[in-house]
Amino acid sequence: MNLDDLVSTSAALMRQRLGARQPRIAVLLGSGWGPLAEQVQDAVSVPYSDLPAFPVLAIGGHAGVLKAGRLGAQEVIVLAGRKHSYETGAADGMKGVIRTLAALGVQVLVQTNAAGSLDATMPPGSVMLIEDHLNVVQMSPLVGEKGDSRFVDMGAAYCPTLRARAQAAAVAATGQAMPRGVYAWVLGPQFETPAEIRMLQAFGAQAVGMSTVPETILARHAGLRVLALSMMTNMAAGLSSETLSHGHTMATAQAASARAVQLLVAVVQGLETPT
Ligand code: HPA
Repeated sequence: MNLDDLVSTSAALMRQRLGARQPRIAVLLGSGWGPLAEQVQDAVSVPYSDLPAFPVLAIGGHAGVLKAGRLGAQEVIVLAGRKHSYETGAADGMKGVIRTLAALGVQVLVQTNAAGSLDATMPPGSVMLIEDHLNVVQMSPLVGEKGDSRFVDMGAAYCPTLRARAQAAAVAATGQAMPRGVYAWVLGPQFETPAEIRMLQAFGAQAVGMSTVPETILARHAGLRVLALSMMTNMAAGLSSETLSHGHTMATAQAASARAVQLLVAVVQGLETPT
């Protein structure tokens, strides 16, 4: 089966499971954001493994399951876990997921991730609103696509209207606007060198991470609007005396997750689906 067929099959299966639900917002959970899934009400759970267009995920836990239901008044699909490019060397691991969401009528993709901070005013635990990105890897999930639509305009990759609504919701919920910045995508899985971090700072990045950018490109190509939040789990290499490790990243993410998830709930509830 080609990808289009896998997407059609996955969307048909999802429509059956969704029943009367008509989610227009999907939330993709990265490291540290998993507890959001527990907040979905009247949820129907679907393992990625039931959906042939979805990737097989390497990591365990609650990853690899989507939940469709409500966050307050918003109908949502919450997706726990993504395929990372550092697993395979390919940038298109989430193509089937994004295409299936688009086929279901989802209009907004809210992405979350864990990232290293390049900005001393955003210490670990901070949540940054992504304004723009740097595709440092210079890989695209659209390689091999045909037609003019592959030449996607990335001038407003992170929807200005959604960003304004997210900030308004953050201010209402916490009394403060979120720090904003540019997210640089690196391939990983190794962390950066201090020299690479100085380069990214010179490039204008405030955060660095190993995800999100391919999905943003896929979403824009599929006509979805994108909003993205980064949880700072560490100061990037060379900016603190700490040795970086996955364990350290995950421990910080866990400690910061309750507050971050509360903020995310407020942000999602504050989004009106653009028509
Ligand atoms: N670099 C890249 N990816 C990351 C980092 C980092 O410092 N922290 C969390 N994800």
